[in-house]
Amino acid sequence: MQINQINEATSFIKDKISDLPKVGLILGSGLGMLADEIENPVKIKYDEIPGFPTSTVEGHAGQLVSGQLKGLPVLAMQGRFHFYEGYGLDAVTFPVRVMKALGVEKLVVTNAAGGVNPNLVPGDLMLITDHINNTSQNPLMGPNDSDLGVRFPDMSTAYDRDLQNVARSAASELDMNLKEGVYVWNTGPSYETPAEIKMLQTVGGDAVGMSTVPEVIVARHAGIDCLGISCISNMAAGILDQPLSHDEVIETTENVRQTFLDFVKEVLLRISNG
Ligand code: 6GU
Repeated sequence: MQINQINEATSFIKDKISDLPKVGLILGSGLGMLADEIENPVKIKYDEIPGFPTSTVEGHAGQLVSGQLKGLPVLAMQGRFHFYEGYGLDAVTFPVRVMKALGVEKLVVTNAAGGVNPNLVPGDLMLITDHINNTSQNPLMGPNDSDLGVRFPDMSTAYDRDLQNVARSAASELDMNLKEGVYVWNTGPSYETPAEIKMLQTVGGDAVGMSTVPEVIVARHAGIDCLGISCISNMAAGILDQPLSHDEVIETTENVRQTFLDFVKEVLLRISNG
């Protein structure tokens, strides 16, 4: 059943775009402006695409943007679906299945995240070297369709080593202080308590957020190489003596906007040049 929906969405998109994408981009809260830099853009609203969930979060455009960045054919999600919005993980990860069916080989996943490691500061960009799924949820639960991937996918290199190295060299070219660390997925929508953040520090988490992990699990199932980048938008609860707000998340992502854009474009240039 999912395969029919994937095929339907895929042919709908194929009919509208000129260039099949090689790289997929999932743009997190406050980071969607990267899609505005895509050349020869073809924009497709999520609610036009058969089988696609529809976006609910304010500040998310809710569209696919196809075109080129640094000469590379890309397909960007401007706005993503979150589990906390009430979507099932099938819906959350459906766009990744469609990207795969369109020919995407590499996925750049971005998010805004809270800093758990006190060495991080708001405004930092963090290369995700690994993740912790702290939700007991998994998008692959249920019957496995072996046309889509194996029953028990390996997650030992969820974040591709070559892509991590590309990101490191792009950062050094731009004289950026790219941090690195482990991303923890919690469902949200409530932020964590200070005690929960202390626990995440103990188990080896560096940043925490409400996305990315389900998309990466499905991408790995589909054989797509992933690069993950967190924008540290605020420190998590209990690290600073101040309450958290979504406004702060958006404000910080606006401040790092240019650095984020330059960085991802440098990464894509390097991918484009092989
Ligand atoms: Cl502190 N927690 C979670 N779960 N998600 C976030 C965050 C914190 N800051 C931004 N996104």
